[in-house]
Amino acid sequence: MMPSARRLVTSLLFLMAASSAAPASEMPRIVHQQGRHALLVDGAPYLILGGQAHNSSNYPLALDKVFAAIGDMHANTLEIPVAWEQIEPVEGQFDFSYVDALLKQARQHQVRLVLLWFGTWKNTSPSYAPAWVKFDNARFPRMLDRQGKPNYCLSPHASSTLQADRKAFVRLMQHLKQVDSAERTVIMMQVENEVGTYGYARDYAPAAEQLFSGPVPAAVLAYKKPQQPQAPGATWRQAYGAYADEYFHAYAIASYIEEIAKAGRAVYDLPMYVNNAQRDSTESPLLPWHENFASGGPTYDVIDIYRAAAPHIAFAGPDIYDPDWNKFNASLQHFQRTDQPLMVPEMSNGANYVRYLWLVLGRGAIGVAPFGIDYAAYSNYPLGHKASDRSMVAPFGAIYAAFRPMQRQWARWAYEGRTYGVAEGDDRQPQNIAMQGWNASISFREWQFGEREYFKELKDHPAGTEIPNGGVAIAQTGDKEFIIIGQHARIKISHAQGQPSMWARVEQGHFDARGNWIMERNWNGDQTDYGLNLGATPVVLKVKLDTY
Ligand code: DGJ
Repeated sequence: MMPSARRLVTSLLFLMAASSAAPASEMPRIVHQQGRHALLVDGAPYLILGGQAHNSSNYPLALDKVFAAIGDMHANTLEIPVAWEQIEPVEGQFDFSYVDALLKQARQHQVRLVLLWFGTWKNTSPSYAPAWVKFDNARFPRMLDRQGKPNYCLSPHASSTLQADRKAFVRLMQHLKQVDSAERTVIMMQVENEVGTYGYARDYAPAAEQLFSGPVPAAVLAYKKPQQPQAPGATWRQAYGAYADEYFHAYAIASYIEEIAKAGRAVYDLPMYVNNAQRDSTESPLLPWHENFASGGPTYDVIDIYRAAAPHIAFAGPDIYDPDWNKFNASLQHFQRTDQPLMVPEMSNGANYVRYLWLVLGRGAIGVAPFGIDYAAYSNYPLGHKASDRSMVAPFGAIYAAFRPMQRQWARWAYEGRTYGVAEGDDRQPQNIAMQGWNASISFREWQFGEREYFKELKDHPAGTEIPNGGVAIAQTGDKEFIIIGQHARIKISHAQGQPSMWARVEQGHFDARGNWIMERNWNGDQTDYGLNLGATPVVLKVKLDTY
């Protein structure tokens, strides 16, 4: 063969090999190891630094204000609704123009999407179902109360409603498969929104009554252990006593959601989850439902029932709208489990929630999303921030900006169990973190220089610490090495066995796009003599300690 012909064949072979080796972008999926979890996007762990749009921003002309806020927040992921009423306003006639506009803009802004399916239930109500569903009680029955009177909530026992919702959701997934398989802009689906029923423990319609007096499915008994061992065939009341009505309703809704998720994933296999309007996370003892939360929703006490009934749902996540530090911590403890990842699909965008990003991300969550990240002329104050402007997103944005360049590394460290986090408590007191061979103590409202006792006459505090807003997240990257990121906090690290130790190196810097560490400054002297003192602007430190 002539050398030039050989070259041509070689390059052709190279091109063919290159094109066959070019990986089709991988489906997002959730993986598990040793009771920890990661969301893989494009084949690698991904940290959702998210924001959720307002409820009514799911229309093309409303998106500019959403993406402007998401951009200012440095979020890498937008959570936004797709409503049943908008994709199937007339039965059987589907309209995906909003979904297409959304995908286009998300790609332009290099933001991934988590789509929220507002179908049969949105905050328990059928408000986002099409009119042909929500006003046809005969075909799409509402739940009945004990007197047989319909209430506001659609029944989870109606196969007609399930079929209609499932059909619309499947069409949505088919459409996503068609228009997004190559780019994978959509990385996850939330099925329904804050399901359950307010004011009613369960459906009392005849069909539901019959099921309630029948046996608890074996899968439920296996996951959600009754207080006393039960013979197969035990009824809900026999097995769960005063908790039976709530558990039965949870099972009914979880089973309904399972049918939707299963059918959707069969078409296009994205990870799917449910979110939860919480019950009091610190209630002790845990009492049976007494109109104090939405019965049947995936509250922490019934996660086992959801796991038993809905294997196509990867996890239930808490929506957190109580700024109390104890309750916030308790919620995370309830929802971070060896059998499901922690993700906070919603939390308030109020200033007193900013600190919780450190806690959630430090605990190894796969993601978090403050709610109402949107410059629409609407604010959900007093639940969230008063103003819909940059003052709302900027504090969250400062933290996301620091995390974002290393979100892939952080997600991997979290998957490996190397990460820790604290948020400043309402009591403003120091906190400790036990790491591998080392202990960190974190204190708040300190000046960057010196110890408090040196300056006893000084009563003031650093500007910007008027409310508890400090926090730290630490990844232990080696035996003696850490990545520390935080704000409004002082960190000291000591050897767990009490050996004398000192900072070996404290570099401030960032990771570049290739994952290389870029050092900007080497902290020593005043910057390390009194611990590592992090101010208002979050910084990333690469830290090494050693003993002597
Ligand atoms: C939680 C819901 O899931 C959101 O859609 C929204 O209604 C907030 N509550 C309140 O703003």
